[in-house]
Amino acid sequence: MTDFATVNPANDVFHPEIYRRGIPYDTYARLRATTPVSWHAEPELPGVPAGPGFWAVMRHDDVQYVSKTPDLFSASLGCTQLRDPAPGDLGFLRSMLLNMDPPAHNPLRKTVSHLFTPRSITKLEPFIRQTTDRLVSQARERGDFDLVEDVTDLLALSTLAEILGVPKSDQRLFFDWANRIIGYQDEEYTEGTDSDPRSPSSLRDMYDYADSLRAYRLRRPGDDVISTLVHAQVGGQPISDAEFKNFFFLLAVAGNDTTRSALPGGILTLLEHPDQFALLRSRPELAAPAVEECLRYAPPVILFRRTATRPTTLRGVEIQAGEKVVVFYPAANRDPEEFAEPDTFRITRSPNRHVSFGQGPHICVAAALARMQLRAMFTAVVEQLPNLVQRGPAERLASNLVAGIKRVPVSAC
Ligand code: HEM
Repeated sequence: MTDFATVNPANDVFHPEIYRRGIPYDTYARLRATTPVSWHAEPELPGVPAGPGFWAVMRHDDVQYVSKTPDLFSASLGCTQLRDPAPGDLGFLRSMLLNMDPPAHNPLRKTVSHLFTPRSITKLEPFIRQTTDRLVSQARERGDFDLVEDVTDLLALSTLAEILGVPKSDQRLFFDWANRIIGYQDEEYTEGTDSDPRSPSSLRDMYDYADSLRAYRLRRPGDDVISTLVHAQVGGQPISDAEFKNFFFLLAVAGNDTTRSALPGGILTLLEHPDQFALLRSRPELAAPAVEECLRYAPPVILFRRTATRPTTLRGVEIQAGEKVVVFYPAANRDPEEFAEPDTFRITRSPNRHVSFGQGPHICVAAALARMQLRAMFTAVVEQLPNLVQRGPAERLASNLVAGIKRVPVSAC
């Protein structure tokens, strides 16, 4: 095993602080070209002990192969986060949809995917459009505003409250939970915490909320995702307590933070490419391919992890059973073997087989909902903020999981 990154820090793709400066595309490109499957160390970070290290997978083909071969690359053995969970948490976390392998994954996935089919989410479209239009128009009146805090975060959080059927006044709770969990590598959100904020024992307040919501919706069903879920059957049985709590976690945190990152990431990318922003202004019908190109060029999720179930070989590299295999979506999205001129941002790009929503059995179940929010936001920006300009640097999250954007000062002009 070559300790490639440890001997050459220029090849570090692990340290969360790197990502505060943006995604390290140069490093990814170098690794993709020279060692597309490379070994990396996992040094100790504040509050998180060192890990055993991992294989980083950079090529488009290989990211697809690993994601689509769950019997060899398990989502369940060590779960899907780069950092190992505490051994005592493993059992509970394995009942999360994201952390299940087929065939156990199939019945829960089937139950949940019904909630997010394009047909099921059509009814959300008027809400998403109206909310987007209102937020963008309020921002325009203000003139100078923060793209994330004043506009995009509020759309992601309002949509989440709407699909969960919770009061708007509870939005703040979801904001804080997501910051605590996804922001666990960023000191802005970790001050004063001494335990791992992702551990179920640190999330008691969130799980208590999930319990109360479940009890309420069992008594008083509404027209929302939680009501459907608590009355649903999974393989002929009611959803288990652990499955429900873990799914609530996925919606509250994973679905929330990814969209919170995708929305400003997309708009920033358009602002950084004025010719493409102008093209979208002149041809608003390009909103759908523009969304795909923004997802390719500025993907919100950086990586997910699998664990090898038995010895295998990938690109000539020997991988042992139990080793971590980590797929890097932004690296795959710039692979020149898949994309012509991969570093060029072109909203008319076709085909566009980006992997930002993952691949295989775990491919994002709510991709249509995320796309709907992005399309609504691009359309509103083009119509109402055609002269939008960035007034200062974007503040990014220190995280090797989500390419989060915390603040971007902008002006409607
Ligand atoms: C642009 C926004 C989003 C991106 C980029 C994104 C990305 C992803 C990725 C990469 C995966 C696959 C993980 C893996 O293979 O291990 C995934 C799975 C998932 N996503 Fe998303 N996601 C987004 C929005 C959402 C939203 C809005 C929701 C829910 C409201 C959501 C819910 C889920 C769930 C439940 C899974 C697990 C599916 C399974 O394990 O079968 N995502 N997402």
